[in-house]
Amino acid sequence: MGKITISTLDKMKAADEKFVCITAYDATFSRLISDTGAEIILVGDSLGMVLQGHDSTIPVTIADMAYHTESVCRANPRSLVIADMPFMSYTTTEQAMENATHLMQAGAHMVKMEGGAWLSDTISSLVERGIPVCAHLGLTPQSVNAFGGFKVQGRTPKEAKSIRAEAVEIQDAGASLLVLECIPSNLAADISKNLDIPVIGIGAGRDTDGQVLVMHDLLGLSTHTPRFVQNFMAGQSSVAGGLQAFVDAVKSGAYPAEEHTYS
Ligand code: KIV
Repeated sequence: MGKITISTLDKMKAADEKFVCITAYDATFSRLISDTGAEIILVGDSLGMVLQGHDSTIPVTIADMAYHTESVCRANPRSLVIADMPFMSYTTTEQAMENATHLMQAGAHMVKMEGGAWLSDTISSLVERGIPVCAHLGLTPQSVNAFGGFKVQGRTPKEAKSIRAEAVEIQDAGASLLVLECIPSNLAADISKNLDIPVIGIGAGRDTDGQVLVMHDLLGLSTHTPRFVQNFMAGQSSVAGGLQAFVDAVKSGAYPAEEHTYS
């Protein structure tokens, strides 16, 4: 199997073939996940919660992200690696350029930033200089305090309209991928259908082009269990088996089921 690139994901979207993304933060899990055939590994700033024990992603630094990105990239033979730009590391284009450079030099193939329209110029500048960008809309965890908690987004007509418009804007700015988190499944389906770029969902229903879960959640290790999480260790005797069960369930369309979605 060849290395996964953005062209692979574009082709999978065109062929209506689901792709899979799992978070990883170290070398051991990076290799295990790549071996499942998962197309993408996300070095998520969720590490602030699942590794560092914080109650949000806000304390995570660019140094933390670079350290974990390097560890993941050393052991990954095949998957596309996306690294999260942490809180306040991309408030200006210049700052984003400098911090994205750290993550690309740590081995990432793409960086992810949370936000929409206000990020357009930054996305264009990074892309023009050879740094591919994944955008992230809906429940963007770095804005948890502004949202007043981890709440489903896009339920009112006004919010839905704004997410739709921002999705088009970030595509026009040059983003290669989009993550949609915790939004109603109809809205996510509509956005995925209307965009040319591949869309990855988490708590966004079954009709996005790919699915992502935080590794600790799908392995049943997390204390919080949002509606969209399924424990894939059930009936498995090894971690590799649990990871593979998630990949297989996404590919077959068995996950996410109706009970994992929001309306
Ligand atoms: O940090 C992360 O793990 C993420 C996913 C929840 C998409 O951004």
